Amino acid sequence: MKVSAVGLSKRFPGVQALSDISVDFLPGEVHAICGENGAGKSTLGKVLAGLYAPEQGHVALDDKPVRFSSPREAQAAGISIVHQELLFAENLTVADNLLLGEIPNQFGWVSDRQMLDTARRWLEKVGSDIDPSMEVAKLSVSKQQLVQIAGGIGRGAKVLIFDEPTSSLTATEATALLGLIRELSAAGTTCLYVSHRLDEIFAIADRVTVLRDGAWVGTKPIAEVTPGSLVQMMVGRELLASSEGDGAFGEPVLEVRGLSSVGRFRDISLTVRAGEIVGLAGLVGAGRTEVCEAIFGVDRRATGSVSVAGKSLVLGSPQRSIAAGVALVPEDRKRHGLVLGMTIRHNGSMAVLPRLSTLGWLNRAAESRTVREFTDRLRVKAPSIESVVGGLSGGNQQKVVLAKWLATDAAVLLIDEPTRGVDVGAKVEIHGLIREAAASGKAVLLVSSDMPELRALCDRMIVLREGVQVAELGRAASETEILSAMAGV
Ligand SMILES: Nc1ncnc2c1ncn2[C@@H]1O[C@H](COP(=O)(O)OP(=O)(O)O)[C@@H](O)[C@H]1O
Ligand SMILES: [Mg+2]
Repeated sequence: MKVSAVGLSKRFPGVQALSDISVDFLPGEVHAICGENGAGKSTLGKVLAGLYAPEQGHVALDDKPVRFSSPREAQAAGISIVHQELLFAENLTVADNLLLGEIPNQFGWVSDRQMLDTARRWLEKVGSDIDPSMEVAKLSVSKQQLVQIAGGIGRGAKVLIFDEPTSSLTATEATALLGLIRELSAAGTTCLYVSHRLDEIFAIADRVTVLRDGAWVGTKPIAEVTPGSLVQMMVGRELLASSEGDGAFGEPVLEVRGLSSVGRFRDISLTVRAGEIVGLAGLVGAGRTEVCEAIFGVDRRATGSVSVAGKSLVLGSPQRSIAAGVALVPEDRKRHGLVLGMTIRHNGSMAVLPRLSTLGWLNRAAESRTVREFTDRLRVKAPSIESVVGGLSGGNQQKVVLAKWLATDAAVLLIDEPTRGVDVGAKVEIHGLIREAAASGKAVLLVSSDMPELRALCDRMIVLREGVQVAELGRAASETEILSAMAGV
């Protein structure tokens, strides 16, 4: 069955989640819907599945306009949505979950036995041998998804909408699910696949539609896009090419000599010049984070010398390090970087409070202005700077952490795993930001386990192994060279 979005618009307070979206989803195709966090993908899926009513436009089935006032009506018309987890009562059985809603409407009075049989038959259609008398709460997320798919198919769904279905699955479970989706589409089911994961989109989609900020950006056959062009459609701007290191950097800003900390690392010496991004590479446990922490002053046992812009730093005091112009963007943003219960405004301004207050009074207007300036530049997607940080996506949280530290005018940025767990669009923005910081004359020391990230951003890399500095590599170093230095082979 062909399902179409025809001029769909949907608003939430303060945000146009969908504006004038028109797309045809064709029978038997796997149609990926992609875009950054907040692009409107889930909202589109929910409007198509009858969970939200659009303010403008309509849904059409085989070109006939339909209006759903509930998901049940959409299901009856053949459209089912597969959520990340079951929404039903968890202590009910699989069979109850699958069929309770249908009884007595569709089946009249049925015995438990008949219910179990029907449930088992539906589950078989998706190749699953889940016991229908089991409690749903005891199933893994991947099995809960299978139950939902079985429910959709059992009810005769012609259109299935999957919303980020693999986000809490293991790799094996994800592969199995993609296989099932392929089979369903080969059998004629129209499959809508919401995802921002490029590998999956390229593995499964026949066509792809990109949304950005609630607007339609394009719909293309998968053969006509590349990962690069797709990311560009998603983020809407030219990706910055990797910076051309010409070796012409400014004065040394961060100078570390013979830095050691018992049991963590020993005898580290490095220099980062103004405008330079130096990578700290190494395997987990090599001491990269520990070196950053010592430079930042949170390691009281560290010995050796650290100087910033020629002035030597008293080790072991983060206050002094901050005052000297050192900023640390920590790896574990939930633990160190942010106070999740506080607003963006608060989090963003914490590090600059001294600058923003006069005679002890906080200048609220200046605070808001500074924070807003940075969140705007970073394209943090949140209704306002009064939003609580814990409610933001990982990528947006990370951008708030960066905003917080960029607001300090620090001369030295120590950045630890800046893009772990963030989506591809946020990653591009964070990379742009790090390059901008360097281009503005800051000295950046970057820890990352992401090899392409290190190679794209760093002018030079220092490799640590078991707390010892073992190599220094130029930006032309190959992945193999870096890996072999890291592993010592
Ligand atoms: N129930 C809701 N109430 C208010 N705002 C919402 C709601 N659902 C989504 N939004 C907002 O609508 C926009 C699109 O969200 P969504 O469709 O979930 O995006 P995506 O799935 O692409 O990440 C976002 O700005 C989001 O904050
Ligand atoms: Mg979503």
